[in-house]
Amino acid sequence: MRLAIASDHGGFDLKVALIDELRSQGHDIVDHGPAQSVSCDYPDLAVPVARAVASAAADLGILVCGSGIGMSIAANKVHGIRAAVVQDEEHARLARQHNDANVLCLGGRFTPNERALAIVRAWLDARFEGGRHIGRLAKISALEG
Ligand code: RB5
Repeated sequence: MRLAIASDHGGFDLKVALIDELRSQGHDIVDHGPAQSVSCDYPDLAVPVARAVASAAADLGILVCGSGIGMSIAANKVHGIRAAVVQDEEHARLARQHNDANVLCLGGRFTPNERALAIVRAWLDARFEGGRHIGRLAKISALEG
């Protein structure tokens, strides 16, 4: 799968661990930065990943900041993006099954690496269920104008 990923300083270490693991699983990863753990503003990193997903340059995106919250707020400003902050595997599955979340946001300061890897696995393995959820997502898309 083609995955776009980025972090700020609060999510940098977790991002590096995720990239290593996801590459070893055979995923095609584009790292949108930063290259080092330097203080930076999460919207600057969220938007390139969100645009890569919205334009279909990437299949899905992963964003990591301290809490995951700032990344999700910024990513959700990009049309076509459904970014979800997730802290456990069950929410990861639901984010895909019900909400067709195309960007996963994680909190590097709250989510240990092993749990984050399990969350990403659960999210990648889950599938959108369609059905009654299609109309609900259409109502969200309609808000984008
Ligand atoms: C950076 O200190 C922190 O605010 C950021 O990583 C993130 O948690 C924002 O939501």
